Amino acid sequence: MATKTAEELLALGLRDRWYPLCPSGTVKRGELTRIERAGEQLLLWRDSAGIVHVQEDRCPHRGARLSLGVHMGDRVACNYHGVQVDGDGVVVSVPGSPGCALEGRPALRTFPAQEHAGAVFAWFGLDESAEPTPLQVPDPIAGGEWDNFLCYVEWDAPYGYSLDNLLDPMHGAFLHRNSHTMFGGKREAVFQIRAIDDGFVFEKTDQRGVNFDWVQLTDAGAQWVTLDIPYPDTAGPGGAFTIVAALCAINETQHAAFFWRCRKVSGWERDSWRILYRNRLEARHWAVLEQDREMAEAMPLDAWDRENLYQHDIALVRMRRLLRSEARRQAAALAAPPAAPAPAAPVPAPTR
Ligand code: FES
Ligand SMILES: [Fe+2]
Repeated sequence: MATKTAEELLALGLRDRWYPLCPSGTVKRGELTRIERAGEQLLLWRDSAGIVHVQEDRCPHRGARLSLGVHMGDRVACNYHGVQVDGDGVVVSVPGSPGCALEGRPALRTFPAQEHAGAVFAWFGLDESAEPTPLQVPDPIAGGEWDNFLCYVEWDAPYGYSLDNLLDPMHGAFLHRNSHTMFGGKREAVFQIRAIDDGFVFEKTDQRGVNFDWVQLTDAGAQWVTLDIPYPDTAGPGGAFTIVAALCAINETQHAAFFWRCRKVSGWERDSWRILYRNRLEARHWAVLEQDREMAEAMPLDAWDRENLYQHDIALVRMRRLLRSEARRQAAALAAPPAAPAPAAPVPAPTR
């Protein structure tokens, strides 16, 4: 991967992570989909078996956009001079110069990809030749007794603003005070941070199960934020409403956000929850999300430079410190000169 500064990594997302790129339905069979994520121009397409491929949108010949090319089933042909590449990034044909040295070469950057819970995920590795860590997803979107709806948005704000927003339970009692779920409880709180494996829980010390009262960040091969919104009995079976969130920077000033809206329901409860959600709750949730969007998009791009944080913001401080130190480590690794090749074996002295 090209060198990046710690600031660029912070703005575009740390490497050695899985990121959700788009809902699965965005990548349609037989089509070439072009998107920008983590500052990279990407081509997404499905092969004849329906397997999704995520590759750099850049022809290995002279850099034309492959997304302007032709979908050929199990390969993509560039529209400029017809060079064909497969899902592993190997050039399989150079029609204008058959047998040329480019044929057979893995010349196109290809990102490990998989689909889960209705989204396409890709691994952005620091060392692109290294194997990714397995994608581990939180329980509420792992299947089993849980059911979920994926809510997907793209906002014109740095992804860090949405991460801040998710780690800020207190805004529920203010920004969303008129919503159907976040009107109750105290509007003052004292928070604490509790360390867990690969992350932490940020929670109110004096209120639980009333409003948006706690949030959990985990960062182990992918960054997940999980939180609960208590539901009144009128909102059907399944107890609290759990949101699993993951973010992906598009570039330095835009991001994609994935909110899986989950409930622990099965059988008839699952059916009744799905009907209730679609008919009653979904519109209300979009209204709440719209409040978040409006706030995030209107914030100045230098918001972090002129803050005056207080006790409710200690999770932001913790999270930014963690991300910064990892960004510095990754930037240093990218800038380090490649390991020196092993010394060549000495040339034996000629014998006469
Ligand atoms: S630039 Fe793609 S085939 Fe020439
Ligand atoms: Fe919110």
